[in-house]
Amino acid sequence: MIKREIINRKQFLTKLGLGTGAIMATYCLGSLTSCDEGSDYKVGEVDFILNLDESSNDALNTVGGYVSSNKVVIALVSERNFVAVTQICSHQGAENVTFRSMNSDFYCTKHGAIFDLEGNGLNSNGSKGIMVYKTSLSGNRLRIFS
Ligand code: FES
Repeated sequence: MIKREIINRKQFLTKLGLGTGAIMATYCLGSLTSCDEGSDYKVGEVDFILNLDESSNDALNTVGGYVSSNKVVIALVSERNFVAVTQICSHQGAENVTFRSMNSDFYCTKHGAIFDLEGNGLNSNGSKGIMVYKTSLSGNRLRIFS
């Protein structure tokens, strides 16, 4: 008597002795979209400077303050520690990402996606994470760049 076992694609590949990397490569060959673990909503390269002396950037002189500029949310999360993320939410592309100082996280007001300061998603709508940009402070000039 032949015993039948129903297994899924990953289990099949595992039985063949393929490691995780080989399995992911196989998935990628089968469907490019299944390999994209990042956002479906493309965010562009950024490189701009904010002058912290300008009144429009006053919020960045207080811990917990944030501004939005060039579709980027920039927050002063602790003394002289800035975090910048795209304003474009990875859930459905709304440009609604803000900073919540009380929770010290980034939050999309559209459907409630939440991201930590490293860009990791903290709930299901935020599961794709969010792009975090580099920051560099020189005097009162804050550079935000990819
Ligand atoms: S678009 Fe941001 S949570 Fe849905």
